[in-house]
Amino acid sequence: MKPKVLLSEDINPYGKKILEHKAELIIAPDTSEETAIELIKDVTGLILRATTQINKRVLSHATKLKVIARTGVGVDNVDIEEASKRGILVCNFPGMNNLTVAEQTISMIMALSKQTLHMHNSVKNGNWNERFSTNQIEVSGRTLGIIGMGQIGQLVAQKCQAGLGMNILAYDPYVREKTTNPYINFVPNLEELFCNSDFISIHVPNLKETKGMINKPLISLMKKTAFIINTSRGEVIHEEDLIEALQNKDLQGAALDVFQMEPLSLKSPLQSIENVILSPHCAGSTWESNVRIATGAAQAVLDTIEGRTPSTNIYNKDLINKKA
Ligand SMILES: NC(=O)c1ccc[n+]([C@@H]2O[C@H](COP(=O)([O-])OP(=O)(O)OC[C@H]3O[C@@H](n4cnc5c(N)ncnc54)[C@H](O)[C@@H]3O)[C@@H](O)[C@H]2O)c1
Repeated sequence: MKPKVLLSEDINPYGKKILEHKAELIIAPDTSEETAIELIKDVTGLILRATTQINKRVLSHATKLKVIARTGVGVDNVDIEEASKRGILVCNFPGMNNLTVAEQTISMIMALSKQTLHMHNSVKNGNWNERFSTNQIEVSGRTLGIIGMGQIGQLVAQKCQAGLGMNILAYDPYVREKTTNPYINFVPNLEELFCNSDFISIHVPNLKETKGMINKPLISLMKKTAFIINTSRGEVIHEEDLIEALQNKDLQGAALDVFQMEPLSLKSPLQSIENVILSPHCAGSTWESNVRIATGAAQAVLDTIEGRTPSTNIYNKDLINKKA
């Protein structure tokens, strides 16, 4: 009998091709905890996307599970400690969608500065004369403040500086070499970045330390003409504080790909605030990145099922060794 592999959500067909002759693939009908519990019982491998929560309760039913391949970088939807206790490998795929997220960030900067959504809606609503509105701006010469200068933050900095002529401020207390790129000005604290940026883009992981780090006191330092962009994790921004500031017009607008609760509720005030661009946690998804990630995840699951150590990043390698 073929081993069973659960896909928490569908993946790119190139990934499924790697597994389909070697395993029985089960695609979960939804991302709820109850469905995960029901389906995880029989499976040897799990290919996990961002929404389904693999917590302690779900894992307590995963008696046959050997590997979780998380199709992205963030493993915050997996209880790593519990998975490690159970000897389940957790693989992730750092770097495979860096370019995708950087490009999406830039598209959000451009859409905010050019009022793309507003202009689109104006044409649809017959307000052709919005073309005379002077609220669109050029980004060249404006200052982009980047929080978190890891792989994605650095790409955004490089492209926005070299390609768009933006000035770059950066805040990242953990980057040691702060002077290799003379065009990036590291600031010693977030306050300085918030006071001086026209656009602020967040690229930090969701950690205890970063949860809610963008809060009212910081947002209140923003220029009223400034924009904030978040493609990292929703938890990093104190969402209620941001909503309040947007409603009070303390800043010009926001573009958000990630939220405190996903999917974002239709009742969220964010749905109706003007000058807010929303996307459904898709900043890391293009055809190209999806092929890279799906084939990587499928190969990691296949390797584990066939007794090989996956050649990708095993996130909990050290923990598994300690608990074994
Ligand atoms: N929206 C999406 O679809 C999507 C896709 C991929 C990645 N992401 C998210 O993008 C974020 C960045 O990913 P990455 O690959 O660049 O990660 P990375 O690990 O390469 O970089 C993160 C950087 O944040 C810095 N950092 C940590 N704590 C900090 C703090 N308190 N203040 C300032 N900087 C701090 C680290 O030093 C590091 O340089 C992550 O949250 C990841 O989950 C989202």
